[in-house]
Amino acid sequence: MILTDTLTRPLRDLRISVTDRCNFRCVYCMPKEVFGRDYQFLEREQLLTFEEITRLAHIFVAHGVQKIRLTGGEPLVRRDLERLIEMLARIPGLDLTLTTNGVLLARMARALRAAGLQRVTVSLDSLENEVFMAMNDVDFPVERILEGIEAAAAAGLGPIKINMVVKRGMNEHSIVPMARYFRGTGHILRFIEYMDVGHTNGWRLDDVVPAAEIIAAIDAEIPLEPVEANYRGEVANRWRYRDGGGEIGVIASVTQAFCRDCTRARLSAEGLLYTCLFAVHGHDLRRLLRSGSSDREISQAVASIWRGRDDRYSEIRSSETIGLPKVEMSHIGG
Ligand SMILES: C[S@@+](CC[C@H](N)C(=O)[O-])C[C@H]1O[C@@H](n2cnc3c(N)ncnc32)[C@H](O)[C@@H]1O
Ligand code: SF4
Repeated sequence: MILTDTLTRPLRDLRISVTDRCNFRCVYCMPKEVFGRDYQFLEREQLLTFEEITRLAHIFVAHGVQKIRLTGGEPLVRRDLERLIEMLARIPGLDLTLTTNGVLLARMARALRAAGLQRVTVSLDSLENEVFMAMNDVDFPVERILEGIEAAAAAGLGPIKINMVVKRGMNEHSIVPMARYFRGTGHILRFIEYMDVGHTNGWRLDDVVPAAEIIAAIDAEIPLEPVEANYRGEVANRWRYRDGGGEIGVIASVTQAFCRDCTRARLSAEGLLYTCLFAVHGHDLRRLLRSGSSDREISQAVASIWRGRDDRYSEIRSSETIGLPKVEMSHIGG
């Protein structure tokens, strides 16, 4: 029987955060004032081991998960990540992908592909160094990310998705240049509304550039038309260039909530299971893993968590929900 939650949503996608650390300090995700020198990241023994992650992955796949995305923090900073990819790639029929900031991609793309990774999503917020550096806040140049993207494409990790978070007053003037740059490359650019994930980034509704405004800005320069969704639960609204230059997506989680079709669970680096990006509490699976629970017991625990799921934060977002002590994006990986 298919496992569904209280709103009849099946469990199809699992995002696994492999580390809470990152080599960037994006202002909308890990602001330096909070994630500074004194910040206590997880210790190594607190992280799930590759064996523990793989064991859980098998249990989730048995419950209907078809796609696993590795994320972080920055997943490529987790040591020997290729070994985990090899272990997960052995699970039959699984779609295995990863989201990265691209810093280490040029160096690692071939090894990731050889280990069995199928595709990557690379985050890039602007083509202008000044803007990009102000957003990653570690002065990392655009060119090196573009090299990473090309290396990933050459290694066979395409079609590559490029994620651009749009924050008002920071990079909205980069929207059209990004669209122009990636049009015709085969890479799929996706614009993401800046979200009120976590509580350290000081999010305000005024900082959000609505998806409709993003599409209108591009359409005025390069005409667009809408494309049907690929499947239930696809979070990006798809558009294509009328001249055949390829497609783009917009992830409008603030202005057009898609909770109704959300089939996604998230596992933090220390083994907490979250049933919503905006959740306040996670369910501790590491405790089960490390206290001798059988696969069957863990499987039953996952099933009962999913059956009880009623999250629809984005649909009920209001001035009251914004102040909730939500989990940080760098903890569960977007
Ligand atoms: C948390 S990151 C983890 C993976 C990797 N470090 C990266 O940046 O691609 C995953 C995605 O979430 C996006 N993100 C982070 N904070 C966000 C926010 N407040 N609103 C919208 N997207 C956000 C990032 O831009 C990135 O595309
Ligand atoms: S968005 Fe990704 S790269 Fe930027 S700070 Fe967060 S985890 Fe790091």
